[in-house]
Amino acid sequence: MSNSSGSYTPLLAVLPGDGVGVEVVDQGLVVLDAVSRRFGWQYRTERALVGGAAIDAEGTALPDETLALCKRADAVYFGAVGGPKWDDPRASVRPEQGILALRKGLKLYANLRPVKLFSALIAQSVLKEEIVRGTDVIVIRELTGGLYFGKPSKRWTTAGGTMKAVDTLAYSEHEIERVLRTGFELARGRRKKLASVDKANVLNSGRLWREVATRVAKEYPDVEVEHVLVDSAAMYLMKRPASFDVMVTENMFGDILTDEAAVLAGSMGMLPSASLGTGKNRVGGTLGLYEPIHGTALYTPEVVGSGKANPIAAILSAAMMLRYSLSMPEAGDAIETAVQGVLDDGYRTSDIAGGPNERGVKVVKTEELGRLVAERVEQLRIK
Ligand code: IPM
Ligand code: MG
Repeated sequence: MSNSSGSYTPLLAVLPGDGVGVEVVDQGLVVLDAVSRRFGWQYRTERALVGGAAIDAEGTALPDETLALCKRADAVYFGAVGGPKWDDPRASVRPEQGILALRKGLKLYANLRPVKLFSALIAQSVLKEEIVRGTDVIVIRELTGGLYFGKPSKRWTTAGGTMKAVDTLAYSEHEIERVLRTGFELARGRRKKLASVDKANVLNSGRLWREVATRVAKEYPDVEVEHVLVDSAAMYLMKRPASFDVMVTENMFGDILTDEAAVLAGSMGMLPSASLGTGKNRVGGTLGLYEPIHGTALYTPEVVGSGKANPIAAILSAAMMLRYSLSMPEAGDAIETAVQGVLDDGYRTSDIAGGPNERGVKVVKTEELGRLVAERVEQLRIK
């Protein structure tokens, strides 16, 4: 499909999912519309069901037509899945299967989770200002292997009537190498430091990880490498967060470390993510999936529909989408600058509002924050 000037118009697959996912994605789209006006840039969207919404409508968390749409799209804009309605641990279909199957189905093995503390929110961090100041790390979570996908993964009852369950942490050399390379390449464009996180003192998979990391590191002599055990990494994120630049780790370690790292940025409602593979799209970028890391778990069911959800993680995910998939890096920068401006002006959702005595803070609802960012994007002067 083409626009009036005859060039191709990128297609976004929009998958809001469940609960607050729907609300925050709506605000991301409001901001993308502002980008469209500001930069004279055209895009198309098609919506599809995923997660609990898809289970209710079609009995599966990732309907075939949703996956097919994502495969023909240039980028996937994703909200969040899950909720108490589908939380029965014995259910055979679960909303989370939707996002896991999408990551696997689109071969998105590198999940980039930038943790950057906006200066306006420094007081919001649970850590002392002198420790947290300057924090700017990208955690790269391996996304299609490890504990989330290893086989066997099952639950059974033994002949003696005991219930058992197993999950498997499996990695091939190739899987480790490619995600580390993503990390090294990224580090080269940043502060040239990489922390490779493993559990080499206990796990075989951890020792393979470290061996591969040591080998690949030789090809990047300009990047300073640190090997860190995952338990130490959890501690160092609290003790010296600003010392990290790029951190690369196994799927589940990354899941855990990024929720921990989110408190550095003031709230999980601030953290965007990009999931990338090697597939190219039709606008010269990488086919990627963009989602806030908070999922639905951050927000209690009462938050849904109350206007309390923080849309910034979803809005910053849209900025990453412009940068990595849509070949519009300057528009991604514009969104980040606009978010910073809105925070500097004192606007907050309640999760980042601080104590009742914080001066100059104006608590606004999800929609208003989205509108404020969109307005700023349109008003920005681009150098
Ligand atoms: C995340 C989430 C997901 C995960 C859930 C919703 C399946 O926690 O993206 O971090 O565990 O990967
Ligand atoms: Mg998580």
